[in-house]
Amino acid sequence: MRPFQSVAASIAFSALMATGATCAGAEDQPLGVRLVDQMNALYGAHRGVRANHAKGAVFEGMFTPAQGADALSSAVFLKGAPTPLVIRFSNSGGVPDAPDTDPSTGGVRGMAIKFRLSDGSEVDMICISANGFPVATGEDFLALLQAVGASGPDVPKPTPVEKFLSTHPAAHDFVTTPRAVAVSYGTQPFFGVNAFKFTNAQGTSKFGRYRIVPENGPAYVSDEEAAKRPPNALADNLRAALEKGPVKFRLLVQVGAADDSTTDATKVWPDNRPTVELGEISVSALDTKKVENELLFLPTNVTSGIDPSDDPIINMRTEAYAESFGRRTK
Ligand code: HEM
Repeated sequence: MRPFQSVAASIAFSALMATGATCAGAEDQPLGVRLVDQMNALYGAHRGVRANHAKGAVFEGMFTPAQGADALSSAVFLKGAPTPLVIRFSNSGGVPDAPDTDPSTGGVRGMAIKFRLSDGSEVDMICISANGFPVATGEDFLALLQAVGASGPDVPKPTPVEKFLSTHPAAHDFVTTPRAVAVSYGTQPFFGVNAFKFTNAQGTSKFGRYRIVPENGPAYVSDEEAAKRPPNALADNLRAALEKGPVKFRLLVQVGAADDSTTDATKVWPDNRPTVELGEISVSALDTKKVENELLFLPTNVTSGIDPSDDPIINMRTEAYAESFGRRTK
């Protein structure tokens, strides 16, 4: 199928939120709190839902490690028996009932995975459908969200967001990149964006970024079809596919070269970097046991053999996610 190249959907990331919503937010608050305040100001605070990636669907699954995956990392789930998973697919944006193609999603999807290890601990992996991020730091992300909030339709040009994008080329590229609409969440590739350090049993460490690829390859719908589909087609079509059997992805790590940045998520690594096959993610059924809002995925939730890199966004995410979790479970 030919990818749906919706420029509108990605530009919308800025346009959609241009509602003149800027949070006065106390500057002495931690950055994670201010980021969540600003997200709530842009999208509206919807009770009991995530400040971002508010719309989602939760599934059960299983991870089966590939032969030799433990050569990259000694993480316990990379060898031996399969590990049960909880998987939440989502759309970016803080509006919980927004249709999949709503501009408020910016065309960006999420896949958050919780590995339930046999000792009762958990490892989380949280990816988006974009390869790279618009900004390198939490400070810049707040500045971008504030600029969007200050750029309502009546604001003279150049608006604050236009000014921000003119001085931040990665953010400009991110919001103007056309994003194809997948047939379902099960046909969408995902990217870890932030680098992690993988260390094997011999003590050899390599930096890498996760990639999650549909086993049968990506599949997208046309522009016209995307516009005609029901509002929750990404999740509905995955549920329909699951009636015929599991929907599978390959979990890979793209290994960086010595001069690839591990601290700046706007710097996408060249596609010719080698990838290591970690194993197979099999999505098997809708998870009817989990209360979506009791689930919290944190990028710092790792296990021995995997460490966060020095990318500042990783700790910032954990701070913001914990803040959002606190608000949505009050
Ligand atoms: C400074 C940068 C970022 C901030 C401030 C931020 C903020 C947030 C917040 C507040 C939530 C809601 C969390 C919750 O209530 O549990 C969220 C969810 C999410 N974010 Fe981020 N985020 C950032 C970067 C990223 C990046 C780089 C990725 C992907 C690589 C990502 C992927 C996701 C996904 C998939 C979810 C939904 C998780 C779920 O299903 O529970 N975010 N983000």
